[in-house]
Amino acid sequence: MGKKRKVEQLFFLKEIGVNFLSPEEAEKIRRELLIKPANREKGEETQKRDKISPSKEKFLKEIEEEVASCKRCELYKNRKNYVFGEGNINADIMFVGEAPGEEEDNQGRPFVGKAGKKLTEMIEAMGYKREDVFIGNIVKCRPPGNATPTPAIRRTCFPYLQKQIAIIRPKVLIALGNVAAQTLLDTKETITRLRGKFGEYQGIPVMPTFHPSYVIRNYTIPVRKAVWEDLKKVLNLLNENS
Ligand code: URA
Ligand code: SF4
Repeated sequence: MGKKRKVEQLFFLKEIGVNFLSPEEAEKIRRELLIKPANREKGEETQKRDKISPSKEKFLKEIEEEVASCKRCELYKNRKNYVFGEGNINADIMFVGEAPGEEEDNQGRPFVGKAGKKLTEMIEAMGYKREDVFIGNIVKCRPPGNATPTPAIRRTCFPYLQKQIAIIRPKVLIALGNVAAQTLLDTKETITRLRGKFGEYQGIPVMPTFHPSYVIRNYTIPVRKAVWEDLKKVLNLLNENS
């Protein structure tokens, strides 16, 4: 089988939602399509972006310190740890989730529980590694019982993410689920309607897609296919603009 056919077949398997690709397969496709994850290959673009990272780091540290002592909403009372977000601060892609769950609250890191495992699969299916992208949340402290954060709490905490986005300046944002999509796009539309179409936040394209927890709960071919369609649109956008 020719190279092209093989890639087409892998895409076909993905299209029908067979599974997310293994990291090896994803890497192969990435190479075929010449998608360049930030900072993995030392291109000029990457080096240019690297140069500004010392100040980026300093600014992000300052925001993290604010979050660490934040009492702006009641969620500080029950948190074990705040979850600031983590990853490549020069990333092309920033994933935005809702709020920390139990495991995230325990570890102080985003998407490290079951949903995190699914998110990692999504990232690797795109040909990236977790450390190539930046992962953050709208809300930095865990809502007790994993309740959906209220609009008031989202509004109170969102400025921290706004600052993170302004500093990191990713080329594209991926909004995971209702809370992230509605907050970034300032709308009450639901994810089912929003997903698959680029919106915009401060001049940055936003692709809303289903939250990995939703994918776990609804592990059906249409849902997986939809997520993969959305992620492919992001890859195409990055490819067009590189
Ligand atoms: N779900 C989210 O939205 N964010 C996390 O960090 C973990 C689970
Ligand atoms: Fe502050 Fe956000 Fe935590 Fe509320 S959720 S205490 S606003 S950091």
